[in-house]
Amino acid sequence: MERTFLMIKPDGVQRGLIGEIVARFERKGLQLSAAKFMLVTRELAEKHYEEHKGKGFYEPLLEFITSGPVFAMVWQGDNVIALTRALIGKTDAIDALPGTIRSDFAVHTNFNLIHGSDSPANAEREIGIFFAPSELVDYEHAIQKWI
Ligand code: PPS
Repeated sequence: MERTFLMIKPDGVQRGLIGEIVARFERKGLQLSAAKFMLVTRELAEKHYEEHKGKGFYEPLLEFITSGPVFAMVWQGDNVIALTRALIGKTDAIDALPGTIRSDFAVHTNFNLIHGSDSPANAEREIGIFFAPSELVDYEHAIQKWI
């Protein structure tokens, strides 16, 4: 069972897309393990995006992610990292396949609605930044055996 960190960014929250986006992961059959509606501090943002420090988009990205509330989540399931990234779509909305979250709702690369971990190592690191171990709910998922 794999876990991933997903975060609906300030644009997704402000546009009222939390329910729409969460519904897509639920309908896929993935299992929610934790969720938190919160503001991201500059310190938290720097930790989360540390691998991008020095890149041209680093400062605008930090400014954006700290500009309003986000909806941070942990989801779990077999291959959840690859599956959620497929549902999210490519970073640039122009390249995202039709039917993906970014193709359906995003216009700009820098306002692309949602973040998803890209590897097991990053998922573990990002979950650890946003959630305490005690906040992760472990329970029997009713339809798990059918996924
Ligand atoms: S890289 O260099 O290939 O690893 O970068 P990439 O995966 O394309 O993007 C990393 C995150 O930076 C965001 N991004 C931007 N934000 C603001 N402005 C611009 N121009 C920009 N370009 C990329 C991108 O959405 C990624 O954010 P996350 O939260 O990881 O999806």
